[in-house]
This record gives sequence, structure tokens and C-alpha cells, in this order.
Amino acid sequence: MTDIQLPDASFTMALVANLRAGLPNFGGIVDQHGHPAPALRQLGLVHWENGRFDTAVQTFAAALSLVPDDPNLWRDLAGVYSASGRDEEALTAIRKSLAIDPLNAHSWQILASVGDRLDDVETAEDAYRRTIALNPNAPAAHLGLGLLQFRKKHYEEALGSVRASIALDPVNGVAHFALGHLSFIANDFAGCARAFDEAVRLTIPLDPLTRQKRARALTFQAMIDGRVEQALHDYDGIAGEDREDLDIIARDAFSVLSASGNLEAAAEVGRLRLAEKPDDPVRRYLLDAVLGRSMTAAPPDYIETYFDHFAPQFDNKLTETLQYNAPRQMAERVVKHRTGFRHMLDLGCGTGLAAAELQPLGASLTGVDISAGMLAEAKRRGGYTELVKAEAVTYLETASNQFDLIFAADSLIYFGDLAPLMHAAAGALEPGGLFALSIELAAGDGFVLQPSGRFAHSLDHVQAAATDFVILETFESNIRLEAGRPVPGLYVLLERC
Ligand SMILES: C[S@@+](CC[C@H](N)C(=O)[O-])C[C@H]1O[C@@H](n2cnc3c(N)ncnc32)[C@H](O)[C@@H]1O
Repeated sequence: MTDIQLPDASFTMALVANLRAGLPNFGGIVDQHGHPAPALRQLGLVHWENGRFDTAVQTFAAALSLVPDDPNLWRDLAGVYSASGRDEEALTAIRKSLAIDPLNAHSWQILASVGDRLDDVETAEDAYRRTIALNPNAPAAHLGLGLLQFRKKHYEEALGSVRASIALDPVNGVAHFALGHLSFIANDFAGCARAFDEAVRLTIPLDPLTRQKRARALTFQAMIDGRVEQALHDYDGIAGEDREDLDIIARDAFSVLSASGNLEAAAEVGRLRLAEKPDDPVRRYLLDAVLGRSMTAAPPDYIETYFDHFAPQFDNKLTETLQYNAPRQMAERVVKHRTGFRHMLDLGCGTGLAAAELQPLGASLTGVDISAGMLAEAKRRGGYTELVKAEAVTYLETASNQFDLIFAADSLIYFGDLAPLMHAAAGALEPGGLFALSIELAAGDGFVLQPSGRFAHSLDHVQAAATDFVILETFESNIRLEAGRPVPGLYVLLERC
């Protein structure tokens, strides 16, 4: 922590002498002991107000050399340091103030802002919360906390904090701007457009990406209101010079509307999109999923087309936006039971996110995937002994007794009935081999095709399908975010009998 040197007595006395000579009412601004610290404080505030930050710092420091236990002076010093961009010193000063008076909400607010600017998230979050505990009516603290939670992708909490801030201070345009973005994530499209409009009214300009989001929000809301074709027709006019390709708008409308449970509107968009390209396997399958048509697995031509297209953005989308880290969570569980594998299989290896986790656990690692685009990314990443383009069950059926670990992170979600795959996996494993897998959790006892196009399974279904296995361990954890909300998942570790 940066230390702060207070001036010695001779400097302070010289300053006080100057002050006494220059201020006719000097006698009126000393404390009850006749100390001139209050006079110095006032002088410091005047310097600060007039932008003479260095002189203000010297003056507050001189006052502190007389009364080093004055929390207000330390807070003033922190304030002026902060105003002049010297955040490390501001942090030290405000901590000193709080050590003397820990019940001052204003001081916690300063600590929070300084911590926030220094990217010290833990300090900032704790200080915002303490500010609010001491003064629940502090709009800046609610807003600061909301923006911090926004950055941490804790969207629901962020929304609550930003709303609390607006309730206390309805004319802060920045808060409405943040509310617009958070409302979009929460699928409140009408609220999103309203908040952006309010931000503009409060003189916060919208950047091009935000203007695009506003146009999307208005379009999606019109679709939810039952005007799908009209909304697509009106889009260009609403977006003006910020307009995006209408095909991308329709594609994203479909996925946003289905993920947010607006299935009627999503189905209508899906029908229009399929009518444009009746042979497109992705459009057909996803419409089937939204319409709740029953299926036992996602068709291979859908998987291939979808993931070939998605491959270049996959890592960034999954790890950054969707907070996906199943490979690490699964590998940590495997290690608890066994390492030193002879031959490991990453089933549905995708871009190879699991490679770095699996490599240390065994001698050789095969990756299998149906998508050439995903395999190309996995090859670029490295870490596999071999990469094979094949359909998972077909591959397993040809790999008798070859593996002692099969690792399937987020790939069984493309199978409905798991029995054929489990059976084939048992054949590909040597006795005693492990099968680590993740699923999205379904209520009930079977499996269900979700509007997202992914299947969810119950533990009962896994148990019923895994006739050649014993369950070593299961644990529940969120798999990823979907429309800003966590998707509940289950990790299962099986041992081949
Ligand atoms: C969501 S990604 C997960 C990729 C990787 N396991 C990970 O954790 O990042 C699902 C992968 O499974 C593959 N996949 C889905 N169904 C498959 C099948 N029947 N046969 C082979 N690969 C399949 C997809 O191509 C895709 O790469």
C-alpha cells in the first residue's frame, strides 16, 4: 500500500503563519484548542475547488500533521487525490479515514469508487455494500454496485441494483443506459427501449451498438405482440443508418425469442425462415424443437451444419458470454478417482476446450467430432494424439475395448435416448474404464427436446440407460447461461462394470 508522508512541523507552521497573515477571520476558524487545522482544511477545500490539486494535498497533509486522527481530513485528502487521478494514494488515505471512523457511508462510497477504478473488484463490492448498509438511500452506491455486478455478469442482481438507484435518483441518464442493456439481457424488450429513450432524454448519447440493440428490442417486442412479419418489414425504418442485415435480425430473433420462452413468436419467425430455405437442416430442426416435435437425437446434418458455421466463434461465445467451463469441472472430478490413463477419448471434442484438462491425465488422447469446422479449431489448438471426424455412436461401435476414459462434455445434449450411446460407450471402454459426462437437467424421469435444440435428461434416464456401468459420482452445477440465466446441469462419473 502506498504510504503518505505528512509534512514536518516547520512546514506546517510556516503555512499557518502565512494563513494567519492573509486571513482576517483566522481566529474564527481554529478548533476549541486554538489549533489551526480547521483553517487549513478550509484553505485546502478552496484549493481543491479551484483545481489546484497539489496545493490542496499539501494543505490537507499539513492539517493532518496537526490532527492525524481526524477522519474527515483523511477523507478530504482521499477525495483530492482521487480527483487528481492519484488513486493509490487515495486508497491509502480513505483506508486511514475508515480505520478511525468505520461508520461513515460517504467514506465507504469513496473507497468503493476508488477500488472500482483500480479494478479491485473485491474491495469495491464490499465497500458499495457497506455504503448501502449505512445509507440505503445512496443512489450512487446502488448504481456502482449494479455496474460492477453487470461486469461480473451477475445480471439479475445488477438489474435490482440499477433499479434501486433509479428509484432514488430518476434523472441519472447513466443508470437508464445501464437499465436498457440489462433489460435486454432479461428479455424485457419494451423496458429496454424505454430505458434507452430515457437515457437520451437525460442527454446520454447512444453509441451505434446501443442504437442497434434498441432497434432489435423494438422489433422483438413487436414480434412478441404478434406482429412478426410487420416487425421485419418495419425494422429498416426503425434502425435507420444503424440497420443490420435483415437475415441476421430474423436469425437472432428466432434464438432470442425461443430462449426467452416466447415460443409462438419464435415459431412464426422459424416458419418464415424455413420458407426462405426449405432445405436448411438447421432451420428445420430448430423449428421442430420450438414446436416441441418429439425426436430421439439431433439429426447429424443439423449438427454438422450448425457447428461448422459456429466453430470460429465457439470458444469466445462459450467461455466469455455463456460462462461455460464444463471440461474443467469434469476433469477435476475425474482426477479425484483416477489418473494415469492409457488411452482417453474426448467424445464430441468440438474445438478442443478439454484438451488442456485431459492431456496431463493420460498417455494418449483421441478427439472425435462430426463437425469438420470444430475439428479444424481443435487441430489448431493442439493437444490431441489424433482427431477423427465421425458420428459418435458409429465411432464407438468400431472401437472395441480401446479406451480407459471417455469424456463427453456438453455433447450428450444432442442425444435424446441415451441407451444406444451408453451401450456403444460400454463396448469401447475396457472393464473398469471411466465415462465422464455432462447433461442438462430435466425434471421428471425421461428426456426432453428443449426449444434450444438441446436435449435435457433426468438422472433416472441416465441410470436406466447406463446398464453396463456403476455410478461413481454425480454433482449438480450450472452448465452455462441461456438468455442471461444459468442452465442447471448434472455431471456424472460412471465406471464400466
Ligand atoms: C457444445 S459442443 C461441446 C464441445 C466440447 N466437448 C466442449 O466441451 O467444448 C458439442 C460438440 O459435440 C459434437 N457432436 C454433437 N453430436 C455429435 C454426434 N452425434 N457425433 C459426433 N459429434 C457430435 C458437435 O459437433 C460439437 O462439436
